[in-house]
Amino acid sequence: MRRDTLLVALAAFGFASPGLVSADDQPIGVAIVDAMNKAFGVHPGFRANHAKGVVVEGSFKASPEAAALSKAILFAGGTIPVTVRFSDATGIPELPDGAGPANPHGMAIKYHLPDGSDTDMVINSLKFFPVSSGEDFRDLLLAAAASPPDAAKPTKFDEFVAGHPTVPAAFATAATPDSFADEEYYGIDAFVFVDKDGARQAVRYQMVPERVVHLETADAGGKPPNFLMEELPARLQRGPVTFHLKAQLAAAGDSTKDPTQPWPDDRKVVDLGVLTIDKAVADSAAAEKPLLFMPGQLTDGIEASDDPLIDVRDEAYPESFSRRNP
Ligand code: HEM
Repeated sequence: MRRDTLLVALAAFGFASPGLVSADDQPIGVAIVDAMNKAFGVHPGFRANHAKGVVVEGSFKASPEAAALSKAILFAGGTIPVTVRFSDATGIPELPDGAGPANPHGMAIKYHLPDGSDTDMVINSLKFFPVSSGEDFRDLLLAAAASPPDAAKPTKFDEFVAGHPTVPAAFATAATPDSFADEEYYGIDAFVFVDKDGARQAVRYQMVPERVVHLETADAGGKPPNFLMEELPARLQRGPVTFHLKAQLAAAGDSTKDPTQPWPDDRKVVDLGVLTIDKAVADSAAAEKPLLFMPGQLTDGIEASDDPLIDVRDEAYPESFSRRNP
């Protein structure tokens, strides 16, 4: 049960002390969007995080191995149209694509299923997440907001990082690619596949390009400010871009609860199918506004795991959406 739901339930049954559900005691997803606004500034009309992006279109075709793992209609083998948004990190819409804070880059995919519903994947180029709870993510953002370049050392951010070694370790796994097409993206949070007999398998997604090309930091810094946003539509005029969607399978004992802990590299990885991107949209700035990608928007045969970040994200993304589309 979500914390806000729990508080409401406690209040309804008379267990909560007066004032427990107060204006300050907001859901963690809302507090995180506030913290993002503090760290990155408020930019009306833009996402609280991953503000700068580009929208493209294509299709997905599943492999037979995918259908064996999950009964999801996504994996039944038909051609599934997709809308994809690639993005830079942070809520700063004018951030240069080659800047360090633009890492991790994001990839959000909306699969338009034959039954008329959508299922989403919202993934990025970190191999694992810096923190394992919504509260820690809020505190990381608040520490960053309280640590401008002229802040006294050690800054609040230095102090937070000292107590959370997974923060620098996670950010060290990301680098600027030479193209959104030449990057590998990771689901990080675990999901559960359910097959036609009800068998369950925890997985983490990997979106694997034809090749990964990372730039040296100095080369990335010297690139034109919109080089990633502009390169992809130009590349698509010359031909499609493909990725293989893969699932890393958890083995017995692998934790699905902690997104700071990658599973060992020797875990089996199954090819779920090919994602082909073949078209830029005419007006990306207009197309991205009504799009809301939700990590927990799933279809029968794919379920959320016990990873607590999924619920927190499902609270934060609509909060950001309603602020950018008032
Ligand atoms: C507690 C953890 C997290 C929180 C609270 C959070 C919050 C947010 C918010 C508020 C947005 C803006 C949403 C919108 O306006 O539509 C966003 C965007 C995004 N996030 Fe997260 N995030 C979290 C973790 C992650 C993780 C683990 C990943 C990747 C595995 C990720 C990838 C992305 C991407 C790719 C976008 C851009 C989506 C788009 O293009 O519309 N986030 N996040």
